[in-house]
Amino acid sequence: MSETTRSETRPISAAFDALTPIVDAVNDGAFHLAYWYDENDDASIAEAGRRVTRKVLSALGIRAGEHLLDVGCGPGAPAVLMASESGARITGVAISDEEVAHARRRAAAAGLAGQVEFRQADYMELPFPDAAFDGVVAIEALLGAPDLPAALRELHRVLRPGGRFAFCHCTKEVALEDGQMTRFNTSTWGSELPTLSQWLDVIRSAGFSVEEYAQFGPRVLGQKDRYHQALAARRTELVSTAGEEAVGRFEQSMAGFFAPEAGTIGYALIAGRRSRD
Ligand SMILES: C[S@@+](CC[C@H](N)C(=O)[O-])C[C@H]1O[C@@H](n2cnc3c(N)ncnc32)[C@H](O)[C@@H]1O
Repeated sequence: MSETTRSETRPISAAFDALTPIVDAVNDGAFHLAYWYDENDDASIAEAGRRVTRKVLSALGIRAGEHLLDVGCGPGAPAVLMASESGARITGVAISDEEVAHARRRAAAAGLAGQVEFRQADYMELPFPDAAFDGVVAIEALLGAPDLPAALRELHRVLRPGGRFAFCHCTKEVALEDGQMTRFNTSTWGSELPTLSQWLDVIRSAGFSVEEYAQFGPRVLGQKDRYHQALAARRTELVSTAGEEAVGRFEQSMAGFFAPEAGTIGYALIAGRRSRD
């Protein structure tokens, strides 16, 4: 864990350090949910995950030569995919050193080390000047933000006027039973889950204009068993590399995240731009 990690984000950093080898193996370097059309859709979890990354890329419309910030980049697969499909330059930041190490290896293996770079940083206090980026994406990265409005203002600061953003986040669709909410909250560091309309409000309050949004919760959360099955299929191999304790913790965290009943939690993609000041 980096020395620069603040006390409030230290537990999150440690958790992602521990989860990274497992996520990288099970999900081929992406740490976000996957999109299936229905139960007859036989896409693997990694393939169905790339559908989400591509939706983000499409909503963002980033172009070759532009510079994109991937906030909370995980083990790097989304940044590598977005760079190879758009030609954009990408800087990814994550709170976890372990994720950054995996992400760097992934970019190098894809021959994209000159186009994609990764560094450990806290999105509450980004080490970049104002208006440094043409685009900003955050795929499931803001769920544990200690202060969501402040995090969004920081992303707004580093985006140039007129620059575009795309964020993916779970949303609260209906009030959850206490037990389900507690288990979900524990797996996401206690952050309050906003409704879609609260999400839109907080994004607008940070100075962004919203131009597009989509709710596809049923497609990413409607077939929860697939996530458990993907892990179960590789459990033995993962225990031999990451250890029983780490795999057990991952299973526990997944069980909490998927505790809410189908339909209670949604998944939104929201895109737009920083107003042209
Ligand atoms: C669920 S993962 C998503 C990873 C990646 N966006 C993806 O879709 O594969 C959440 C990410 O947010 C990052 N994160 C959480 N809190 C952070 C913070 N305060 N600063 C920077 N990154 C943070 C974690 O390091 C992790 O990479």
